[in-house]
Amino acid sequence: MATISRYNPIVSPMKDHNAFIEGVMEYIQNEVDADTRVESPISGGVDSSVVTKLVHRAIGDLTYGTHIDTGFMRIMKRREESEIVSGCFPDIKNFGVVDARDFFYKNVMGVQDAEDKRKAFIQCYITTLNNEMKKHGCKIISQGTIKPDIIETDGHVKSQHNVNINFEGIEKQIEPLAGLYKHEVRAVAKALGLKEEAYLRQPFPGPGLSVRTVGVITPEKLMVEKQVNDIVEQTLNKYMMKEYGVAMYFDPTTGEQIPFQGFAATFDNRQKEAPDKAIDHVNRLLSDAGFADAGSVLKLNIKATGVTNGKRRYAPILCIALRDEVPYDVLVRIGKEVPLANRCSRALIQIESVDNPFEKDYLVSIRIVRSTDAITAVPMDVPLDALNHAGEWIIGETNKVGAVYYDITPKPPATIEYE
Ligand code: XMP
Repeated sequence: MATISRYNPIVSPMKDHNAFIEGVMEYIQNEVDADTRVESPISGGVDSSVVTKLVHRAIGDLTYGTHIDTGFMRIMKRREESEIVSGCFPDIKNFGVVDARDFFYKNVMGVQDAEDKRKAFIQCYITTLNNEMKKHGCKIISQGTIKPDIIETDGHVKSQHNVNINFEGIEKQIEPLAGLYKHEVRAVAKALGLKEEAYLRQPFPGPGLSVRTVGVITPEKLMVEKQVNDIVEQTLNKYMMKEYGVAMYFDPTTGEQIPFQGFAATFDNRQKEAPDKAIDHVNRLLSDAGFADAGSVLKLNIKATGVTNGKRRYAPILCIALRDEVPYDVLVRIGKEVPLANRCSRALIQIESVDNPFEKDYLVSIRIVRSTDAITAVPMDVPLDALNHAGEWIIGETNKVGAVYYDITPKPPATIEYE
């Protein structure tokens, strides 16, 4: 088993980014013996990009930066992630993209259970990376693990693809960002001169769109997920530029990132049932706030993940159609209380639907949250017209989606991702 070395910063990058960078350079140089090659996997996210830049700055051409195209990466404005990543590291001599799509599809598609899917993904990731590291002759791997990843993995909240993994032939794993939260990593990214498109990015889960294409994945469902996720990111970006003048806003008083994440999840348009107690519960909260009863409250025969008392749950999704336009605080109250009391993982409100939604194969949920550290999160108060715009676009563009919802559940009781 490789030893794990985690850097414990003396100075926070928020206080003094230059002092942080100096400290981390010294740490990397001390951890890596002369002539030892370091594999630095690059997912495209800010954490692994920052680590790769730091390692490269510390040890130069001994850095092997590898981006694995798993096939579950997102597209952004119709551009593939691998294309974007390739443009971000022109200075790294030993940079490469590995096309592992077929291997991942073969092993991950067809898996139903969320945790099994994560495990299948992790296994493919390890095998692919092991092959690359063997080819490169690397004895050390650097990882973009950050503090919340460690807290959640140690708390057994989920299996993460990049935490606590035993790689073949690797003697040491270095984690230069292990003491940082996301906003601190962004400060380092900016100080290192990374492009805004590389550091002002929303976090993206290691298993990528495989955990947003809920349940068994088929090529068609994955294609729909890629399209709708891109639509949500584009709509959100446009809204943020209009309202805040920036794609991502950092609240100086709360430290919150707005949005922390915004994406779409796709699930099968499966049979629904009307759960009496949940209907009463929703209607009671609506009536307490002075609004009409819901048009419908249905429990989908589809499960997604939630988290209660630090334990991960896998439970059905509630879909609510409202008659009135209900203020955000009432929606969040419904999202917080109803799923938990009714053995569900989350509550969604309908924002768009076709005339006959049951004739279409898929349903889509838009999830946009604010958060500081991803350990807790709240749905973002995005105005209905922006959500409607995304909903109409999704329905028009894909022609396979029966209804589009907005997820109103905080974390807890829901997780940010769906699996
Ligand atoms: P959840 O869904 O657990 O997500 O509330 C919290 C944050 O973690 C991201 N996430 C992951 N990041 N590997 C990662 O590097 C993973 O396996 C993984 N799963 C979730 C998620 O996108 C959110 O920001």
